[in-house]
Amino acid sequence: MLKHTPSAVLLFIVFIFTSSLNRVSAEDPLDFYCPSSSEFPLYNLNSSFHDNLNLVMGLLSSINASTAGFYNTSRGQEPNKVYGQSLCRGDITNSTVCKECIEKASQDIMNRCRSENAMIWYNLCQVRYSFQSFDVVAYTGKYPKQNDEEKNVSDPIRFREYLTFLMNNLSAEAAFNPVKNMFAAGEIDYPGKKTIYGLVQCTRDMSLPGCSSCLSSAFTEITTCCSYREGGIILSRTCNMRFQLSQFFNASSAYQLVYPTSTGRKWKSWMFVLIICGSIFVLSFVIGLGIACLRGRKKRDKDEEISERTLLQELTTPKHVALTQEGDLISSEEVLFMTLASIRVATDDFSDTNKLGQGGFGAVYKGVLPDGNEIAVKRLSRKSWQGIEEFKNEVVLIAKLQHKNLVRLLGCALEGEEKLLIYEFMSNKSLDQLIFDPEKRSKLDWKTYNGIINGIARGLLYLHEESRLKIIHRDLKPNNVLLDHELLAKISDFGMARIFSENQNAANTKRVVGTYGYMAPEYAMEGLFSVKSDVFSFGVVLLEIISGKRSSGFYQTELAPTLLAYAWRVWNEGKALDFVDSVVLETCPASEVVRCMHIGLLCVQENPEHRPTMSTVMLLLGSESMGLPQPKQPAFALSKVLHLDPSTKTNPSDNEIIFSDILPR
Ligand SMILES: *[C@@H]1O[C@H](CO)[C@@H](O)[C@H](O)[C@H]1NC(C)=O
Ligand SMILES: *[C@@H]1O[C@H](CO)[C@@H](O)[C@H](O)[C@H]1NC(C)=O
Ligand SMILES: *[C@@H]1O[C@H](CO)[C@@H](O)[C@H](O)[C@H]1NC(C)=O
Ligand SMILES: *[C@@H]1O[C@H](CO)[C@@H](O)[C@H](O)[C@H]1NC(C)=O
Ligand SMILES: *[C@@H]1O[C@H](CO)[C@@H](O)[C@H](O)[C@H]1NC(C)=O
Ligand SMILES: *[C@@H]1O[C@H](CO)[C@@H](O)[C@H](O)[C@H]1NC(C)=O
Ligand SMILES: *[C@@H]1O[C@H](CO)[C@@H](O)[C@H](O)[C@H]1NC(C)=O
Repeated sequence: MLKHTPSAVLLFIVFIFTSSLNRVSAEDPLDFYCPSSSEFPLYNLNSSFHDNLNLVMGLLSSINASTAGFYNTSRGQEPNKVYGQSLCRGDITNSTVCKECIEKASQDIMNRCRSENAMIWYNLCQVRYSFQSFDVVAYTGKYPKQNDEEKNVSDPIRFREYLTFLMNNLSAEAAFNPVKNMFAAGEIDYPGKKTIYGLVQCTRDMSLPGCSSCLSSAFTEITTCCSYREGGIILSRTCNMRFQLSQFFNASSAYQLVYPTSTGRKWKSWMFVLIICGSIFVLSFVIGLGIACLRGRKKRDKDEEISERTLLQELTTPKHVALTQEGDLISSEEVLFMTLASIRVATDDFSDTNKLGQGGFGAVYKGVLPDGNEIAVKRLSRKSWQGIEEFKNEVVLIAKLQHKNLVRLLGCALEGEEKLLIYEFMSNKSLDQLIFDPEKRSKLDWKTYNGIINGIARGLLYLHEESRLKIIHRDLKPNNVLLDHELLAKISDFGMARIFSENQNAANTKRVVGTYGYMAPEYAMEGLFSVKSDVFSFGVVLLEIISGKRSSGFYQTELAPTLLAYAWRVWNEGKALDFVDSVVLETCPASEVVRCMHIGLLCVQENPEHRPTMSTVMLLLGSESMGLPQPKQPAFALSKVLHLDPSTKTNPSDNEIIFSDILPR
């Protein structure tokens, strides 16, 4: 119900170091992340939060945790609960060394930082803690500082090719080779009797595709900052990437790579030259783009802020909801303001028995008004730093929207630290609780599912094209689709939504919020969102409904690394019906569900321009005869890398496949 789980976004810290490495002694952290008090609250010494933090840090430093190399734990009760995570570099096999590093890192982060959310990186380990479960923290990226001291390599073009080859191999090994435990280290000789040493690692709570996409972003960063330098390191919340011209890791955990040129025949060398030229072209394009982005970023962020402010002003004319700078509500015609006291009565003082669910931004309770009407109350977490923004966003937005496929906001309350949103009560809960529950699922038929798919599509079409405003939802997923007593689907949760002006088609943000598995690649990677990123999420939800399988976590079934990769594979093998859940198959003509899957695949195509708009989707869903174009490869279909036969790896054309798949989009 009304859940928010905006996923963590990468925090990249880039180091450029060659000679400067020597200055980073083993004692100093590589970097640390300690947000200011305006971003996250500070904790008090002597508070229960502080006690729990001490407990967690002790657990992370225990010998058991050090032996495992990766540890994830939590202690205490909300709101003072502390989550902690530690990771040692994959080549550290001596648990004493790991333990010592984590002990030092834990003490250091406690001394340096009083934020309720922090992270520190050392050469051999990293430690993190937070007041909330990790997947609800969003970070902002950091980018390299220019520094004249670095040494450049003498043959940057060739160097970059070798580096690319090395990092592509390491990334694929770390992400997809289960015995590697999300770590890979390797070396490659390049002409001039020099060797590049490389290392990549993901935290082990990442999914395989999540690790792969983190590393592919890290690769973009490392080529942008450092591909002409003698060393570079990218640190992020969930993955690290590093290279140097000297051995900096335990050699026994590394393997030797050979650049494929030497084994090629004459005609192969020809192809190879072509591929290199192509790669150089693409790389320079990526680098150019990176630089352009860096330059444009500052300005854009400022623009974004300004437009948000004017937007709020525009929407908060006295006729509608108005919030002063202090956050006080002034007046309203469209939204009913309720008192905190009346909501306390309705929800039995937020009793646990009335709790419907818990999301990243707070809990949702069921309530009954004096007139007998049932309501759902979202109580935004006091600690959530996004709370007030989200509150404004949702109130201002939903008040403007009326559609039978959107959840209706009945009112709100804002008193002291309490921020409450009151919605109509939806007795059949959220879509995920229906379609991923085998028992509930078995009782339904295709007609119901089809109704739900059409309902979501209509709601989204209204947001994109039919309402007075053009709205991008940004976090569409089954948890955010609620079902009323007649199983009518209604889209909920507009905390992440963005309003576009009429002629605006895309926007960029550095705060990527959303959920892995549903986020379009251009949004997850570059922060670029448009109506087409919502269409992507819709496609994923549609494929989940007909397959009965979750997009995230699907890789564990070993059928394919992701649900989309699996759909794509069976589609190309002509076995589309293998993808469809038996409940659907039994109650629906095969041609109809295959058509539905076809539409789903069109929505998740990698290139946003190839995806249909929601009005086209509605047309296609409503017609049985209208021709459909063949779908192109969906995003995140990394299965090709998995299925590479090692014996063919010296063939340049296969390397090209790896290249184009791993290369950041
Ligand atoms: C912390 O608690 C101890 C004992 O509980 C007390 O003596 C001390 O004054 C407290 N310190 C602060 C800063 O509150
Ligand atoms: C370490 O693990 C062992 C067995 O798994 C357990 O018996 C022991 O209590 C653990 N020690 C700590 C400090 O957690
Ligand atoms: C692990 O490292 C510690 C300290 O560096 C050392 O004393 C110990 O002998 C090492 N253990 C093994 C098994 O190598
Ligand atoms: C290294 O290369 C960069 C970019 O090509 C250049 O700006 C910088 O001046 C070079 N540094 C040295 C020491 O040559
Ligand atoms: C990490 O620990 C937290 C709290 O113990 C838990 O909720 C979460 O599921 C864990 N994540 C993983 C990937 O183990
Ligand atoms: C390197 O790793 C091997 C086995 O993984 C281990 O035996 C050896 O002690 C390690 N060497 C160092 C210097 O840590
Ligand atoms: C990476 O290189 C190693 C050594 O050459 C090879 O065994 C492995 O299959 C390669 N992995 C991938 C994914 O190409």
